[in-house]
Amino acid sequence: MKKISIKTSHPYEVLIERGGLAKSGEYIAKVTNSRKAAVITDDIVEKLHLQTVLDSMKAVGFECSVFVFPNGEPSKSLANLGNIYDFLCESNITRSDIIVALGGGVVGDITGFAAASYLRGVEFVQIPTTLLSQVDSSVGGKTAIDILGGKNLVGAFKQPALVICDSDALKTLPQEILSEGMGECIKYGMIRDEKLFELMESHDIENIDDIMDEMVYKCIDIKRAVVENDEFDRGERMILNFGHTLGHALEGWHNYTGFSHGEGVAAGMCMITDRLAPQLSERLKKCCAAYKLPTGSDIPMSELLPFCSKDKKNEKKDINYIICREVGKCEIVKVPFTEFCRLMEG
Ligand code: GLY
Repeated sequence: MKKISIKTSHPYEVLIERGGLAKSGEYIAKVTNSRKAAVITDDIVEKLHLQTVLDSMKAVGFECSVFVFPNGEPSKSLANLGNIYDFLCESNITRSDIIVALGGGVVGDITGFAAASYLRGVEFVQIPTTLLSQVDSSVGGKTAIDILGGKNLVGAFKQPALVICDSDALKTLPQEILSEGMGECIKYGMIRDEKLFELMESHDIENIDDIMDEMVYKCIDIKRAVVENDEFDRGERMILNFGHTLGHALEGWHNYTGFSHGEGVAAGMCMITDRLAPQLSERLKKCCAAYKLPTGSDIPMSELLPFCSKDKKNEKKDINYIICREVGKCEIVKVPFTEFCRLMEG
């Protein structure tokens, strides 16, 4: 087993272990004195992994209540959050008990927000079961739901008490879900670690399992370093958004259906690199293509840019974009939105 200690305001450990799901009870028992837990998951993960986690929790004395909701982004809603609150209340979960998020990014985000807000805060554990949630959303404490005005607009910073990553769980994922996670993994290589990038570019989607543990470890360790320096997203953490400005625009253009976040990140990284660091373009595109990710888009820039300006995270009329001029190095550049449009359309 590998361990990464995250030294945020509320420190915790990320455990990376094949077969970790079957030992989750033992690990969770070390971060809480309670033996009462609420396990929250979706209807896909329920069939694949719920019993393994429940068995292991029951084996160390946990009494578990379970809430299952339909998989997919529409479940990250205010209505579903209300259902989760009702379930926690009916299960008599108190502030000293523990909530477990078992699933991908949607499960982790909404469960984390429920844990941040129910009774003004209950400890929670993340058991991410997709590549994207293992390397990104389960670590760093961002929790959220979507509202009509946009994705992730209501949320809180709430660090988990523990994260358990089991690479064996990733074996059941369809290729497109693995590819989606690879969008974020390639991003980590580009922004911080050329060796990690080399590891990924020397493999492909067919033999990804050979590098999975090392890759997941390195990605989480990069996220650790960034989040420790800027837990509340006021500066350096913005580098994690490499590829995301155009990526979010692509997701928005597709109305958040049929085009995943990871595909958006991959296409967004390739598009901005094409424009501003063309010397890296071919290498980046080859790596994205090896993991069956898009390397650009046919949608005219004039149609995408309006979606960038709707990004609620941009301050006034300036936009922060991230650019890598060498693999493993990146910078944050702040320009007026009009200048960003000129650079992208030029
Ligand atoms: N997913 C980007 C971040 O955690 O800041």
